[in-house]
Amino acid sequence: MSESDVQEGHRFPAPEQLAAQANVGADVYAEAERDRLAFWESAARRLSWAQEWDQVLDWSNPPFAKWFVGGKLNIAYNCVDRHVEDGHGEQVAYHWEGEPGDTRTITYAQLKDEVCKAANALLELGVQAGDRVAVYMPMIPEAVVAMLACARIGAVHMVVFGGFSSDALASRITDSGAVVVVTSDGGYRRGAPSALKPAVDEAVARTDSVRNVLVVRRTEQDVEWTEGRDLWWHDVVDRQSTEHTPEAFDAEHPLYIMYTSGTTAKPKGILHTSGGYLTQVAYSHWASFDLKPDTDVFWTSADIGWVTGHSYIVYGPLANRATSIMYEGTPETPHRGRWFEIIEKYGVTILYTAPTVIRTFMKWGEDVPAGFDLSSLRVLGSVGEPINPEAWLWYHKNIGGGRCPIVDTWWQTETGAHMINPLPGVTDLKPGSAQTPFPGISAKVVDDEGNELGDDTTGLLVLTEPWPSMLRTIWGDDDRYVDTYWSRFGTEVYFAGDGAKKDDDGDIWLLGRVDDVMNVSGHRISTTEVESSLVAHPAVAEAAVVGASDPTTGQGIVAFVILRGSAEDSGDELVQTLRTHVARDIGPIAKPRQIMVVQELPKTRSGKIMRRLLRDIAENRELGDVTTLTDSSVMNLIKDKLPANSSSED
Ligand code: WT7
Repeated sequence: MSESDVQEGHRFPAPEQLAAQANVGADVYAEAERDRLAFWESAARRLSWAQEWDQVLDWSNPPFAKWFVGGKLNIAYNCVDRHVEDGHGEQVAYHWEGEPGDTRTITYAQLKDEVCKAANALLELGVQAGDRVAVYMPMIPEAVVAMLACARIGAVHMVVFGGFSSDALASRITDSGAVVVVTSDGGYRRGAPSALKPAVDEAVARTDSVRNVLVVRRTEQDVEWTEGRDLWWHDVVDRQSTEHTPEAFDAEHPLYIMYTSGTTAKPKGILHTSGGYLTQVAYSHWASFDLKPDTDVFWTSADIGWVTGHSYIVYGPLANRATSIMYEGTPETPHRGRWFEIIEKYGVTILYTAPTVIRTFMKWGEDVPAGFDLSSLRVLGSVGEPINPEAWLWYHKNIGGGRCPIVDTWWQTETGAHMINPLPGVTDLKPGSAQTPFPGISAKVVDDEGNELGDDTTGLLVLTEPWPSMLRTIWGDDDRYVDTYWSRFGTEVYFAGDGAKKDDDGDIWLLGRVDDVMNVSGHRISTTEVESSLVAHPAVAEAAVVGASDPTTGQGIVAFVILRGSAEDSGDELVQTLRTHVARDIGPIAKPRQIMVVQELPKTRSGKIMRRLLRDIAENRELGDVTTLTDSSVMNLIKDKLPANSSSED
């Protein structure tokens, strides 16, 4: 990269040709500003409604919003059928690539047939509108089919990331009351089949709401079978009719629940509904990426087990009649050029991925992407955590060939869709900043009292107006919904949990979580969740967990544990056991990078663990202010007692 690229304040203007033909131009901001509700109303008209709404927004009972009140639509019809009716049945919806190299091409017409069959199968299993269906799947097309089949019949899907443990699955099944689980024997990861069904068996055994488990055959692994409960997808779905008449549901009909970590050990079931959600994911996908349905090949590299997959692999792209890539496996299988090979093979034009992946590619070196033809790419996206300017510039040069705008999108499971990001045909890009609230979104940076801050002052990010794809509540817990998001600054101001600042140009920089939530490889994990897993182990008396900055994953999980008197060994073996214990308990993404066995933990007089000081230790920094500690010698004790070799990495 040239010297000038890394200079503070260097801007990357929108490429002229892209700007000239962009889906949205600069005037979109003024239009949304003039009349925010009219703006979202016109975004809603991009969908097909069975019944028009009477009111765009009902905010009479904040923070409980209703969008497109009185409107009715069917989400699956909007994502699939209408494109077939419009003569695009032969267009590819997904180019699916399995990790071992097997492929499937699924057109909109085929997707429609598959979704109808799966919808008929769910109906046969007695699933009704409003029932919850758990989906625990690898990245195979049936995962999308299952989600759309639920949407089609008004059932509420609850997708659990396939990397989560049986425990995590069980608690989500219990909390949501799922009646059916859709899963598979397994999926391929890192060159080998990885089983899923055993985790479902364990989870379902500990819950009482599940009647049936519908199993897709993918890896042909041996599976345990519970007669009467377990059913093969190919036995039940394949024989169904490809005809199913979609029913129109209320705009506020629940579409899905997605659990995400908060500041307590219990994950929150974020509830998204239908009309507003689809309106904003579809519009943002079209505007943020300049999606052209006839020519683009779009690839979001996330797993459908995360909100990024829901909004930008499934709902947004399908509502816009995009042709998408869906890839089952990991980037290094069977070689480090796998992603670039896929981009070259399918002529991918838009790539949406996470900073942690870019930093991994940086470690592998620029020779890897240089070995492939990436000239089809025209727009790049980033999501999950702030993208550091070095990674931005590397992405821009080595993957984007210096010609593709990078759209850094800030949003959350709760927001459902993009909230702060540049627009590729409009914004002069500034590496490292998400820059501008999306049209129709109002974001501010405030101090602890909620006063808006001047430029260059660090504060808290808030959203001051409701938006169509906002969460509607936490499943089964309205109080927690109000407490978590809408109490700090009153019931009309959404507290995002992120620190932020605005620079002199008014561009927004996101600065990471301000609560006890870590961000590991773009995934949210709460410190308390990991702590409660650690203290559940018989060897551990007390645990404190912090997120320490990590060059690849953004943050890494570092745990400090005090052992029980009876625990004999404090050596490497126990540390490994505890790491594995957490991975098994929550999932491999929650496995601590490092566990330090200590005699004491730094606490305030009120008994609160001072994570700030532990973070200083984990990041090898000079200790900050220790004056509020009950006993400031504790910190020396911790530092002295640190085993020289207490860390380990896989
Ligand atoms: C948290 C939300 C949105 C889908 C992926 C994560 C962080 C996300 C960015 C970004 C800075 C970001 C925030 C946010 N985050 N995107 N572009 N720049 N920070 O969804 O698990 O709900 O996590 O991820 O801290 O609050 P999530």
